[in-house]
Amino acid sequence: MTIRIVAIGGTVNPGSTTEQALRLAAASAGADGAEVQVFGGAYLSGLAHYGSEAHQKGDGGELVEAVRAADGVLIAAPGYHGTISGLVKNALDYLEDLSKDERPYLDGRSVGLIATAYGDQATMSTLQTLRAIVHALRGWPTPMGATIRTYHGLFSPDGECLEDRARMQLEMVGNQVLRGARAFAGAAGPQ
Ligand SMILES: Cc1cc2nc3c(=O)[nH]c(=O)nc-3n(C[C@H](O)[C@H](O)[C@H](O)COP(=O)(O)O)c2cc1C
Repeated sequence: MTIRIVAIGGTVNPGSTTEQALRLAAASAGADGAEVQVFGGAYLSGLAHYGSEAHQKGDGGELVEAVRAADGVLIAAPGYHGTISGLVKNALDYLEDLSKDERPYLDGRSVGLIATAYGDQATMSTLQTLRAIVHALRGWPTPMGATIRTYHGLFSPDGECLEDRARMQLEMVGNQVLRGARAFAGAAGPQ
């Protein structure tokens, strides 16, 4: 049985630390053969506003279909003025298109959350917002949520996380999403 994980997040910055954090967690979630699909900042910044004409014509369809088929989801958002960025929120608005599904919204999916910001205060308030959104969407947030303080040099140019505290959180979130996804998919596996 293939376990499917979808990772959503990042910013418009080409070297986005938020996206690097997301990809690190996604690599952990995919370590045991799970299929992982990443929708990073480049994809999110090309999405039309939810509800616009472009959306009505099919924009964002790949994202909606990927989440529809997913057993687990990772979401990474930067803290902008103490809460999640508009870019990530717009992508999450697209999950409204799952409202009429047999498994509506994020029902029956484990959801790992990552909040980045320059300061601790915004990482925490952003994580709480993400949890509130996932609860509203009937998803199952993992016990661990990652709060990552970002700064120049947190990641090496090739994407290696140079801070143990951040790396351990991200790996744990990825592992917990995979564990939850397996449970929802009814597949036993190493925990
Ligand atoms: C519009 C804007 C608002 C921001 N607001 C906050 C904030 O309230 N608190 C904070 O600690 N960092 C704030 N930041 C910093 C971001 O959280 C930081 O850029 C992000 O964690 C990393 O972004 P990156 O993925 O583009 O590297 C803000 C950044 C921007 C661009």
